[in-house]
Amino acid sequence: MPPNARELDFTRAMARVPGPVVVTTTVDAAGRRWGFTASSFVSLSLAPPLVTVSLDKKASTHAAFTTADFFMVNVLAHDQSDIARRFATSGVDRFAAGDTVTLERGLPGIPEAVVRLACRMHDVVDGGDHSILIGRVLDCVTSVDREALVYVDRAFVRPAGSVPAVARAH
Ligand SMILES: Cc1cc2nc3c(=O)[nH]c(=O)nc-3n(C[C@H](O)[C@H](O)[C@H](O)COP(=O)(O)O)c2cc1C
Repeated sequence: MPPNARELDFTRAMARVPGPVVVTTTVDAAGRRWGFTASSFVSLSLAPPLVTVSLDKKASTHAAFTTADFFMVNVLAHDQSDIARRFATSGVDRFAAGDTVTLERGLPGIPEAVVRLACRMHDVVDGGDHSILIGRVLDCVTSVDREALVYVDRAFVRPAGSVPAVARAH
């Protein structure tokens, strides 16, 4: 069914809001790797350390992630938009390019990602047409010298790291 006017207003509004670009991965009991691109990644709690990623219930990866015990969030770097596109493409082998390797907790990780978070599945919560994957962070790997990719206005952009910040939060 095509989106109605209210849904179009909502998606138009949310497209204006910058978000991170992550590739969320897991591996099932048969050793098959699964992954999808998401901009719905959010930090949820510090104690315990929890993050969320929302996954469309119609996605081909939905069953694999909602039954997984562990998953990994790979926060993509500014020069990894090709990886973002591939992990959002239906009907292709998203792992064929070989840019993921087995990393923390045996999960498929992207070595050049800005941040990798290996998570144990804490809960899966209903979120309308999406399922909210809540992960408890077990391992954090952080790169300090790479800028994260940003998705805004339906485009991938690089943060203007050399421009002075408007204001510091602290
Ligand atoms: C920048 C970007 C962000 C996305 N964010 C999400 C997201 O947060 N949650 C989600 O379920 N799908 C998201 N998608 C779509 C998925 O990556 C994927 O295309 C969709 O799940 C269809 O995949 P399927 O062929 O496995 O069904 C996003 C796609 C792009 C390009």
